[in-house]
Amino acid sequence: MANASGMLSPAVLSLRKRTVPPIGGVFRSGCCVSCSAVNGAEKLGSGVSPSEYRVPKLLSRGCKLVGCGSAVPSLQVSNDDLSKIVDTSDEWISVRTGIRNRRVLTGKDSLTSLAVEAANKALQMAEIDPDDIDLVLLCTSTPEDLFGSAPQIQKALGCKRNPLAYDITAACSGFVLGLVSAACHIRGGGFSTVLVIGADALSRYVDWSDRGTCILFGDAAGAVVVQACDIEDGLFSFDLHSDGDGQRNLNAAIKENEVDRALGSNGSVLGFPPGRSSYSCIQMKGKEVFRFAVRCVPQSIESALSKAGLTGSNIDWLLLHQANQRIIDAVAMRLEVPPERVISNLANYGNTSAASIPLALDEAVRSGKVQPGHTIAAAGFGAGLTWGSAIVRWG
Ligand code: ACO
Repeated sequence: MANASGMLSPAVLSLRKRTVPPIGGVFRSGCCVSCSAVNGAEKLGSGVSPSEYRVPKLLSRGCKLVGCGSAVPSLQVSNDDLSKIVDTSDEWISVRTGIRNRRVLTGKDSLTSLAVEAANKALQMAEIDPDDIDLVLLCTSTPEDLFGSAPQIQKALGCKRNPLAYDITAACSGFVLGLVSAACHIRGGGFSTVLVIGADALSRYVDWSDRGTCILFGDAAGAVVVQACDIEDGLFSFDLHSDGDGQRNLNAAIKENEVDRALGSNGSVLGFPPGRSSYSCIQMKGKEVFRFAVRCVPQSIESALSKAGLTGSNIDWLLLHQANQRIIDAVAMRLEVPPERVISNLANYGNTSAASIPLALDEAVRSGKVQPGHTIAAAGFGAGLTWGSAIVRWG
């Protein structure tokens, strides 16, 4: 079965026997990379059992990005402010990272309220009522409930139809994964209006006495509304990866339980009852993560661009996870994207993890830089390790 643009939809690919759907396959008119185009209806010829004819109803739809919004906490912390609590300077931080300020959650601010504010702005831009949302994806590694905060956002938005809401945990790659997940839900899952929120408050897991990490992070939320459409798909291609081996270079692992160890040394039953767990602060080998980013991110974008039949010169904007200006510059140079086509707001907010891409996108859309029809190469990378890119059209 072919979709509206003549290409195979992911749902169809997944139903084809003995055919592995390509990761990041292309569903844009004019080409289909990594898969041989086989018409599902034709394949089901004589000799197949009746049950194999009972193909579920497939929706062959595309998706488009129709609104965005963002929110940041009110407390601004400058490099000079940080130099009062750790041995650092504005010069060191700005030269090595490009960061000058960041926002930090305090007092009554909550991650959930930031996410709701960003979501409301995105819905307003898209002129969509909360009741029309049928899926909320909250991309975060710092939920305010162990079991996920997305349903709380659904409740706060006042979605009366109780849309499905769940969290996606993939650190700084979370938003790209959320965007691809939204598209997959729309293309194959029958969803029509998906709210993708990237929100993180890494300030809660930073060791504020560690100058190697505390200078990097800030808190924020950003949101995008992704809607089903029958015209050309707005997600041209994607490329996603993870490598658990790299976790040793960047993590905030669960703490070893002191109480359990004490019980064990006494000869009593080991590990029961379990003590309450908590997480360590963020541990990072900055140089290793830097090397990983400048090596893997351009490869991922090049792979996604090639699946879409594009090159760096065809994109209007390069929008990377905002971690370090030197990483952004290195990736842009490798892809031969000139600085005027690179989106960066890192100086004002630092690394806001899953929020950084939608926050920067929102500023770029509202300032008029990003216009409807523009092609954006977006890429996230970070803890996990995870990394990935998506080539999308705005509007
Ligand atoms: N102020 C002053 N000096 C500092 C600071 C600081 N804030 N931090 C480190 N230094 C010192 C070090 O102690 C070291 O001193 P030494 O030479 O006397 O030993 C020197 O500066 C160089 O330190 P490096 O760690 O080698 O500095 P580097 O140039 O690598 O920059 C940085 C560090 C900014 C962290 C960089 O490695 C980086 O950006 N890495 C990537 C981080 C990243 O992208 N993370 C993304 C994912 S985050 C997530 O997913 C949650």
